[in-house]
Amino acid sequence: MSATIINGKEIAFQIREKLKNEIQTRAITPKLAVILAGHDPASEIYVKNKQKAAAEVGIETVLYRFEDDVNPKELEDLIDALNKDFSVNGILLQLPLPEGIDSSKILNRISPQKDVDGFHPFNMGLLMAGMNGGTVAATPKGILRLLKHAGIELAGKNALVIGRSNIVGKPMAMLLLNEDCTVSVAHSKTKDLKSLCQNADIIVSATGCLKLVQKDFIKDGAVLIDVGICRDENGKLCGDIDFEACLDKASFMTPVPGGVGPMTIAMLLENVLEAYLKQNA
Ligand code: GUN
Repeated sequence: MSATIINGKEIAFQIREKLKNEIQTRAITPKLAVILAGHDPASEIYVKNKQKAAAEVGIETVLYRFEDDVNPKELEDLIDALNKDFSVNGILLQLPLPEGIDSSKILNRISPQKDVDGFHPFNMGLLMAGMNGGTVAATPKGILRLLKHAGIELAGKNALVIGRSNIVGKPMAMLLLNEDCTVSVAHSKTKDLKSLCQNADIIVSATGCLKLVQKDFIKDGAVLIDVGICRDENGKLCGDIDFEACLDKASFMTPVPGGVGPMTIAMLLENVLEAYLKQNA
């Protein structure tokens, strides 16, 4: 058996085309404010990609740039102004912030209605309560969309989420729980990752640890979702999961690149459009 590869790039493309059509049909221009503080090289690339993808579907972006030594008060003042600005539908504070800045304090300042990342405790709380109407973080939202697109049955399945970040792990665990999975969350202090993996029908790995999930970790027919971004010994981009080795044992797998990554951007754009529509209902 060879695993079915879930083509996130293609699915994300279809979602972006749909968003583009909807924005054109409605003749609207949703607006996203992007705040980038410091010069983290990965963040620079992510922000550029998000802006490009937004422009392609008809979402306007405005970038606010700050240096590493930005005073947190400047960020808070900007967010206060953007919260009040009716022309701005979404606010994205790119993480990580420069060292020494308390990111949750700044994130919590964003109006929950403009929190297109879904990181505000209000939106996280709605997700935890299993209530609709909040904004769900783009990466886990995109992963759930991939699982559903692939027709994977979720109710009653043992799902293992590796990683407990507010960006991926925690919201992912909640989404899977809301889909009636039996969810475990593993993290850096977890004692026996291998046996947890061996018991999992679905594994979502979001650690950035190269080849953390090996072939002998997984059960036959496991669904493997890879959120990791790593470089192998030859500098090739790859994920947390030993892709080649697991191919003939898993049932479904996402590749890196071309799996989860493109979905994150598509879901962010969807969140911006949804924020616009709610604000203009
Ligand atoms: N840094 C890494 N991923 C993300 C994300 O999805 N949103 C924001 N704002 N920052 C990030």
